[in-house]
Amino acid sequence: MEITIAQSTDQAFSQPSTLTRTAIVTGGAGGIGRTISRRLAAEGYAVVVADIDQAAADQAAASLPQIDGADHRGFAGDLTDSGVNRALAAVAAETGQISVLVNAVGISPKRNGRKIPFFELADEEWNQVMAVNVSAPFFLVREAFRYMPTDGSASIVNLLSITAKLGTGGPSDASFGPFLPSSVAYGASKAALQNLTASLSHELAGRRIRVNGIAPGFVQTPMMGDVPVDERLLGQVPMRRFAKPEEIADAVAFLISDKASYITGISLDINGGWRTC
Ligand SMILES: NC(=O)c1ccc[n+]([C@@H]2O[C@H](COP(=O)([O-])OP(=O)(O)OC[C@H]3O[C@@H](n4cnc5c(N)ncnc54)[C@H](O)[C@@H]3O)[C@@H](O)[C@H]2O)c1
Repeated sequence: MEITIAQSTDQAFSQPSTLTRTAIVTGGAGGIGRTISRRLAAEGYAVVVADIDQAAADQAAASLPQIDGADHRGFAGDLTDSGVNRALAAVAAETGQISVLVNAVGISPKRNGRKIPFFELADEEWNQVMAVNVSAPFFLVREAFRYMPTDGSASIVNLLSITAKLGTGGPSDASFGPFLPSSVAYGASKAALQNLTASLSHELAGRRIRVNGIAPGFVQTPMMGDVPVDERLLGQVPMRRFAKPEEIADAVAFLISDKASYITGISLDINGGWRTC
């Protein structure tokens, strides 16, 4: 198990402060995670940017605005390992109580920008999607909630997907929708994470920790990568465009705020009007 922790500044390691609001963003070096990290930093959180890509995590943490000297950090590790998640929660708690946890870690393996047919999906590919998209968020919540305040200010947000409800559609050449380039494993993993979100909201209600999900349709990030953006894809979306990562970060900011103080256990659709039922 290899864990690397980097600080975004040269300052000496600071003592824990009950005043510091700490946020963890997993997949924090990715397209959506990086934007969410920036938003949380702008709101005054000390952000721990956790990602398997060490250089990217460190770079993302170092680029965040430092409000009132907030000490952002990069944390590198494979979050499918429960020990790594235990270390991540402990490290984040060193600077203050963990007020916010955003699970943006996720993978959607594709071949040449196209979905992998279900009958070609290898055991390892299936297992890896489940490990990253379901097990990793679970492992981290299982550790981090211990460090979260119980005064009603703490909140967890999981990145789900429209595929949690719709499935991932038919083969690449299907004549019917939904047209979604991800493999069946991805949709199944996001449905599992949506269910986990509901269950954890019940488990943690007594500690006044809210747990919600955000279900985007298409978002313009590297995850969409080589997927050809054609009329067939965009034609499903009434607003005829992908979401911007900032629009996902706005929803996170709302769900963690006092304005959402009575919202827990939901999956918030952010998909440009795409009908999910
Ligand atoms: N982009 C979209 O269209 C879209 C749509 C719906 C939902 N989502 C979800 O939003 C979240 C963020 O997506 P994104 O578009 O930013 O993806 P991304 O690929 O840009 O970012 C994902 C990040 O997770 C990191 N990561 C992958 N495996 C890891 C592991 N084992 N341990 C630690 N880090 C790991 C990657 O290094 C990457 O930085 C994902 O959960 C994704 O499923 C994305």
